[in-house]
Parts: sequence; structure tokens; C-alpha cells
Amino acid sequence: MKNKVLKAIFPVAGLGTRFLPATKSIPKEILSLVDKPLIQYAIDEARDAGIKEFIFVTSRGKGALEDYFDGAPQLELALRRQNKMELLKILRKTTMESGEIAYIRQRDPKGLGHAVWCARRLIGNEPFAVLLPDDVIAGDAPCLQQMTEAFAETGGNIIAAMEVPPAQASSYGLMDVASAKGPLLTLKGMVEKPESGSAPSNIAAIGRYILTPQIMKNLNQKMIGAGGEIQLTDAIAAEISRGGAVYGYKFSGTRYDCGSKAGFLKATVAFGLAREDLRDEFGAFLDEVAAERQKQQDIAV
Ligand code: G1P
Repeated sequence: MKNKVLKAIFPVAGLGTRFLPATKSIPKEILSLVDKPLIQYAIDEARDAGIKEFIFVTSRGKGALEDYFDGAPQLELALRRQNKMELLKILRKTTMESGEIAYIRQRDPKGLGHAVWCARRLIGNEPFAVLLPDDVIAGDAPCLQQMTEAFAETGGNIIAAMEVPPAQASSYGLMDVASAKGPLLTLKGMVEKPESGSAPSNIAAIGRYILTPQIMKNLNQKMIGAGGEIQLTDAIAAEISRGGAVYGYKFSGTRYDCGSKAGFLKATVAFGLAREDLRDEFGAFLDEVAAERQKQQDIAV
């Protein structure tokens, strides 16, 4: 297949202040939906899409992430002794081969574009994926796989796209769409977190990108954008201005914003209900909660 994407960047340097105190001593990427850390959802999705090299852009205090992906011989031994082979299999899936994973420190928190740029030497002259683990996407075909297929066909930059309520638009990078062909949107512009009223559309960039090496070169310009930070959106917008091919991709699947508390709770409920071993008990509980809520509301009116 031409235009193969083998490397992915996971920007995980953020402080996770929205989840304090939970994130005081553990990275927010280790927070779990049911029993699987957010970062593991992103890794599984990347692996399914054919990614072979996993590059983490980290910061101080993220050591637990490195331990998480390391082998755990004592734990493995204990599980084997107890004949808990299913758990052993799950555990093995979290262990990365040596050389398959790399960690780079982002020394100063200068924004998403800067975090991606920190990985430039490991990316070299290859296309690469970027996955933001806060965005968890559930669906039959993994989102990044849908996008790598579109990249194999077009060879242009591809950014996951989703309509968001207009009132929330200014929390996102937004797309200015020139034309659409199926799920593929040809873009004529992109703006990071525009002020309300000046958004080009309510089609937002979601945390999955497939980018060409030229984007790293654009990031070299270190342009300061929204919030005083170096924005990935600006480097992509610059690519459009240069005449490069940039597409939005309306993926199929449900996206959960696990960077917000409400989004994280919604994802927890959805993933809990999707689990065969939990569905009955958890579903019955939710029904009870909903009935009780309804009763309270009826009394209130
Ligand atoms: C980042 C990007 C933004 C994108 C969003 C998707 O923003 O800068 O363009 O729309 O992720 O989740 P953040 O959520 O880190 O502020």
C-alpha cells in the first residue's frame, strides 16, 4: 500500500488540572474507563490502524506512563500461577516491545503544535499520525483506520471532523470547508478556537490527525496562536495557504470528550453498558436511577 503511516505521536504532557485531585499523582491518561486507561484506548486504535512506532511527548510527573507500558514480570508470574490466563492476555497487550515506544520531554508547555514539533527528529521525512488520548472514539471500524485508508487514497493531510453544537464551537479548531465528497471534506481554511460569531463553520477538528512531514516544517516557524500557544491548527492552516492538500474526515463512530468531567462520565456509562460482563447489573442500576430521577422531577412540578 502506498502512503503508509507507521508512526504516531501521543501528546501527553498536559497537567490534567481539570481532574484534580485525581491527577495530583497520576497522569490523566491513566484514568480509566471501566478498567482500561484512556491511553490504552488510543494505543489499541493506533495499532489497529497499522502503527508500529509510538512516540509519547511527556513532561515531568508522567513516569507512571512509562511503567504502565513496561513488562510486569512479577504480576505475570502471579497470574500464571493462579491460572488467570485471560487477565494475562490483557496484561500482555499493555506491554510494549523495546524500541517500539519512545518518550520525548516537552520542556515548556507551549501548546499542542509545540508538543508535536518536539517529536520532529523521530518522525523524519515520513507521514505520521497524532492521537489526543482525551478524545475516545467508539465505533465498529477504529477511527484512525478509517483515516489511514483515506490517506492511502489521497496522500493529503487528514483531520478527523465532527459537527459540534454552535455554542461549543469556540472550544475547538474549526474547519472552513470548500467541498465535500462522501466523508472527505476539502478544506480551504482552519481556525483555532475562534471568538464566538467568527467561526467558519461548526465542523470541529477532533483529536486524530494524519499529517505529512511538511507540517513539521510549518511548525518550525513557531507561530504563536490562540491562547498564546503554538497551535497545530495554525501549522495545518499554513499548509492550506501553501496549496497543500488538507481534508477533514467525517469519521463514523461516537466521540467522547474525556478531557471534561461530563464527557468522561458519559464515556464510562457507554463503555460500561457495552461490556457483556457488566451490562445486566449496570443497566438495571441505571434504569433505577433514571426512574428515581423522573419521580423527583414529577414531584417538583
Ligand atoms: C485540541 C486542538 C483543537 C481540537 C481539539 C479536539 O484542543 O487544539 O483544534 O479541536 O483538541 O479535541 P484542546 O482540546 O487541547 O484545547
